[in-house]
This record gives sequence, C-alpha cells and structure tokens, in this order.
Amino acid sequence: MPGNPAFRQIQVAFLEADVHMHRFEKLIEETKGFLDPAEGRRLYDVALEASRLGPFLEIGSYCGKSALYLGSACRENGQVLFSIDHHRGSEEQQPGEAYFDPDLYDDRQKQIDTLPFLRRTLARAGLEDTVVPLVCASAVAAKSWSTPLALVFIDGGHAFETAWLDYTCWSGHIMAGGYLLIHDIFKDPAKGGQAPYDVYKRALATDRYEELEMTGTLGVLRRRSEGDAGAAV
Ligand SMILES: C[S@@+](CC[C@H](N)C(=O)[O-])C[C@H]1O[C@@H](n2cnc3c(N)ncnc32)[C@H](O)[C@@H]1O
Repeated sequence: MPGNPAFRQIQVAFLEADVHMHRFEKLIEETKGFLDPAEGRRLYDVALEASRLGPFLEIGSYCGKSALYLGSACRENGQVLFSIDHHRGSEEQQPGEAYFDPDLYDDRQKQIDTLPFLRRTLARAGLEDTVVPLVCASAVAAKSWSTPLALVFIDGGHAFETAWLDYTCWSGHIMAGGYLLIHDIFKDPAKGGQAPYDVYKRALATDRYEELEMTGTLGVLRRRSEGDAGAAV
C-alpha cells in the first residue's frame, strides 16, 4: 500500500539501488579500459563468489576498469583487492604503438602515467578502502608475497615472457577453490596475440585447474583442491 511506511521504505531502497546502479554504469562507461561489459559482468559474478574465500590480486590496474568490477564484489564481502601496475603502460600502449592513448601521456615525465586515473576512478567509486594499489612491476610485489589469494586476474603485459612471469609469480598463491582469470584469450591467432592463450593452456596442462566457461576473451579457471597454495607454479 502506497501509504504504508514499510512500502515506502521498500520504494526508497529500490530507488537507492537504481541510483547506485546508474552511477556504477556511468562510471564504467567513463573509465578507460579494455573489458567489454559482458566480460566485466562475468568478472563481477566470479568475484562475488570468490570474495567469500579471501582477498584478490590483479595484475594490470590501468585506469581502474577491472578494479571497479573486482573491487565492488570485494566490498560486498569485506575483502580487499590488491591491484598491481607500474603505471608506465604495456609495450602496445607506448607512443607510436597500436594502443597508445595521448591522454595518458605525461609531458613533464615524458612517459605514460595511469596512476592519477586509477586514483580518480577509485575515489569516484568509493573504493579507496577496498582496493590497494601496488605501484611496481608484478615480479617485484611477488618477491615477498605470502598471502593466499581467492582470485588472481592476469591482465598485464601481453608479451609471452611478461604474461608467463605473471603466471609463475602468482598462480602458486591461489587457494584451493580460488580462481585464476586471464584476459585476452584469443583461440584464433587471426584475432589477437597468443601469449595469454599460451599461458592459459599451460595452466590447464598442470591439471591444477578446472576450466570454466569463457566470456568473450576472459578465461576462467578454478583451482582444484589438490596441492598447496604457496607452491611454485
Ligand atoms: C591491458 S592494461 C590493463 C587493463 C585493465 N585491467 C582494465 O580493465 O582496464 C595492462 C596494464 O598492465 C600494466 N603492466 C604491464 N606489464 C606489467 C608488469 N610487468 N607489472 C605491472 N604492471 C604491468 C601496464 O602498465 C598496463 O596499465
């Protein structure tokens, strides 16, 4: 009944949820990045499940698009997302390369700097208490890492050596039942670089992961129970 205070409370809750969703969608649209909405949605769904288990780590924050999806899911369950990036851009994002974006080039430093963009995204989304930016190369952060992770998202450099190093540095920290997500899996070489797909296939060949359905170019693997988190590769 419209006059009933309980009904009014429900209406307000729906309205707030609508406003929240609208703001989130706007923020996603306005944040530079490479995930399409279906991949983002899947990232969020897997993350919501995984955030019941423990903290997350992503390699490749860029301007914070994936952190919006992963971080929002973490916030739901009181978890934390560690988001690594040296913020100097990948090989393909340098001046003259296919994915160079002049907005991200800092004229004074004469190099790419995406850190201010990430900070702005996190502040706008209210995720500063959920997402912990780690400003360094992935292998540097891995040197003294020991926290088991419920989800690792690899979306850093796309040269084979870089993607493989990310995998070898971080996959051993994924807890049983946790997830390994890899972006830009192109099974058809005509559609894109093969390094992430090579890493994905090598991960599968270890038999430590169950292969779940992909969404777009987002590969989703779940760590089986056998083996210890913290073991090498
Ligand atoms: C494809 S972008 C990440 C896109 C982001 N996940 C999104 O959703 O928009 C790749 C990022 O990885 C970073 N990167 C590349 N190699 C790295 C490394 N070895 N360590 C840390 N960051 C790296 C680059 O600076 C770049 O910002």
